[in-house]
Amino acid sequence: MHFKDIDWNKLWQEAHQQKSWKKKGEKDWDKRAAGFAKRNFDSSYADRFLRLVKPAPHWRVLDIGCGPGTLALPLAAKVKSVTAIDFSAAMLAELEKRAAEQGITNIGTIQASWTDDWRKLGIPIHEIVISSRSLSVVDLQSALEKMNSWATEKVFIADRVGSGPFDPELFAAVGRPFEPGPDYIFTVNLLYQMGIHPKIDYIELEQTKSFATRDDAIDSCRWMFDDLSTMDERRLADYVDERLEHNEAGTYNLRRSSRVKWALLSWKKRTV
Ligand SMILES: C[S@@+](CC[C@H](N)C(=O)[O-])C[C@H]1O[C@@H](n2cnc3c(N)ncnc32)[C@H](O)[C@@H]1O
Repeated sequence: MHFKDIDWNKLWQEAHQQKSWKKKGEKDWDKRAAGFAKRNFDSSYADRFLRLVKPAPHWRVLDIGCGPGTLALPLAAKVKSVTAIDFSAAMLAELEKRAAEQGITNIGTIQASWTDDWRKLGIPIHEIVISSRSLSVVDLQSALEKMNSWATEKVFIADRVGSGPFDPELFAAVGRPFEPGPDYIFTVNLLYQMGIHPKIDYIELEQTKSFATRDDAIDSCRWMFDDLSTMDERRLADYVDERLEHNEAGTYNLRRSSRVKWALLSWKKRTV
């Protein structure tokens, strides 16, 4: 077998189908918007991402799958403008609410999916295109080509490493099989076959996180499952209780079984 004969796009599709956490539609993301925003704005992820990306003042940034603005909001202060696109109206509403609260006026939002016709929607090309934890597509190659062709300078992708934000031990504790789906190594290999050699940085988050209440700690795990029975809920709570430390400050520390790690892939626009 030769390396060039491996169809990484097909391997990606197959791994995607086996993933425990199935591809979510826009309505599923709508339901998750408020909880996702709550969990993510107090994480160090955006800070670490921006330190690696080193934004420049002249950049106009296209943020695909922007969610509640985890990156778009802090980026806006450092660049000329941000176009934030997402197929979930509720995610965009979260972003717009926060932008208004913070007096940010240089973010434009567009409700659009990866696979929509962006030309018809009037989405212009930007210096920079980013996809942060949002590469939820069936056709990876088309998504990568689209990102490259919508950028004039650089492309950034934050992609899962291994189990990413999921906790495999929690799945075992709840009695569910865990299949993480494709991670960044598929993306790197496919890019290589497309003639793109990305730079790879890593973002590793803290293993222990602090929560105001035990319920908040439980909520930080519950999102990983869709349909928990009463028994499953009990198992999840037991798992959290075993790892929870009530500290002197009155808050709760939860230590995960492993650190969450993301790969940050970047490349200079490739002209074909
Ligand atoms: C895990 S969140 C990431 C949000 C943000 N970029 C971040 O890093 O915090 C994934 C986001 O991608 C969006 N998304 C998922 N599939 C999408 C698709 N096919 N088209 C557009 N947006 C999509 C979801 O609505 C959600 O807001």
